[in-house]
Amino acid sequence: MYVLPDLPYAEDALAPLMSADTLRTHHGKHHKTYVDKTNDLAPKAGLAGKPLEEVVREAHRKGDKSLFNNAAQAWNHAFFWRSMRPTGGKGPSGDLKSAIESAFGGLDDLRAAFVAEGAGHFGSGWAWLVTGSDGLKVISTHDADDTLVKDGIYPLLVCDVWEHAYYLDHKNDRKRFLERWFDNLADWDFAAEQLAAAGSRGEGFRYPPPVGDASRSKAAKDKAAKDKAGERRAGA
Ligand code: FE2
Repeated sequence: MYVLPDLPYAEDALAPLMSADTLRTHHGKHHKTYVDKTNDLAPKAGLAGKPLEEVVREAHRKGDKSLFNNAAQAWNHAFFWRSMRPTGGKGPSGDLKSAIESAFGGLDDLRAAFVAEGAGHFGSGWAWLVTGSDGLKVISTHDADDTLVKDGIYPLLVCDVWEHAYYLDHKNDRKRFLERWFDNLADWDFAAEQLAAAGSRGEGFRYPPPVGDASRSKAAKDKAAKDKAGERRAGA
């Protein structure tokens, strides 16, 4: 089964930009529900014990919308928690700074593009900084859609632009939320680690592996071996 990963900081660590109340509900209710539903649906789709990344891709390939929506939202939120850090951290440096300058001109230009993308996104979704063969770019995805099912891009940072992410703290002002998020909460060290991983230098973000499925997996393997032996005997 898939676990709800702990927040990488205290619930009140991002306040007042993102209050403890918002994080408690967003993480403890919204994210948990996606994880719980994935735990219900993945075994029914024959995907128990598979890494969540594989579940998202398989559900997408098979057109299993319910599983895809819940598994992708479980993954997106875990990536979102990692995309933030308490205020006061440093900005981009090294290869990441160079890549931002190359793609956008500078951090201010990236900020303008990121805020415009997220604020202009119609309805619920996610604003991403990604890298690909043509360098860094900003994209948005609708609802649960995520970068795991898009060829040739690799995520560096994401901001949740569903209303539940900002409404308690910023009311309907999504643009202001994105500006403050970009200026204060974006974790550039995490983005730099992701950029390095995209270039095969280091390990990129992965959802925590499922736990407690070992006995089920072993039973499934034993059954498959038994079935195969039966087929051999029948064919002999
Ligand atoms: Fe969310």
